[in-house]
Amino acid sequence: MTTAILEPSRAKRLKASTHETHDRLDRSIMSAASFASVEAYGRFVMVQYLFHRDIDVLYDDERLQALLPGLTERRRLPLIAADLTDLGFPLPEDEAPLAFPLGGIVDIPAALGWLYVAEGSNMGAALLRKEAARIGLSDEHGARHLAPAAAGPAAHWRAFTAALDAVELTAEEETRAAAGAKAAFMRVQVLVDARIG
Ligand code: HEM
Repeated sequence: MTTAILEPSRAKRLKASTHETHDRLDRSIMSAASFASVEAYGRFVMVQYLFHRDIDVLYDDERLQALLPGLTERRRLPLIAADLTDLGFPLPEDEAPLAFPLGGIVDIPAALGWLYVAEGSNMGAALLRKEAARIGLSDEHGARHLAPAAAGPAAHWRAFTAALDAVELTAEEETRAAAGAKAAFMRVQVLVDARIG
C-alpha cells in the first residue's frame, strides 16, 4: 500500500495522484512566459475560459450544491470572460465537446474530481496574481479571476476540501473521482499545448 491510499483526506489523495500532471502543467505555463506580456497572458486566460466552460454547469447542479456548500459563489467563468473583455480579447471557441454538456447527466464522483482541480487552481492563482500585477493587471482589470476570496485563499480552500473530504463515496466512485481529477488536468494540458505551448 502506498501513502496515498492510507491518506484519510480525499483532497490530499487527489493531490498525490495528480502531482506529476500538475507539475508538468505549472512548467508549461511558466516556461511559456505567460505573464511576460498582456498578449501571452491573454492566451493563458483563454485556456482558463475553455476549462471553466467545461465545468460551468456543475455550479448549477443541486446535488453538488448540497455536497459542497457555497458552490455557486465559486463559479469563475464570468470573471474570466470579464478579464478577456477588459483586455479586448474574444471569447475563444473550441472543437472539443464540453466535459459536462448543458442538460447532460452529471457523474457526481467525476464532477468532484474536476471541481477539485478548478478550486485547487486558486492556490496557484495567488502566485499568478502577483505576476499579473507586474504587467499592470489587477482584481478590477484583466486579472479578476485571480483575485483571492474575501476569506483568503487558504481558508476558502480549507472550507472546500473539508466538504470534499466529507462526501461518502464507494471505492468504485472514489476511482471515478480520481479519474475526474486526472481528466481535468489533462484537459488543461491539452489546451495549454494547443494554445500556449
Ligand atoms: C490552470 C492551471 C492550473 C491548475 C488547473 C492548477 C491546479 C492546482 C491544484 C488542483 C492545486 C491544489 C493542490 C492541493 O491539493 O493542495 C494547486 C495548488 C498549487 N498550484 Fe496549481 N494549478 C495551475 C497552475 C499553476 C501555476 C501556473 C502555478 C505556478 C507555477 C501553480 C502553483 C501552485 C501552487 C504553488 C499551489 C499550492 C501549493 C501546493 O499545495 O501544491 N499552479 N494547483
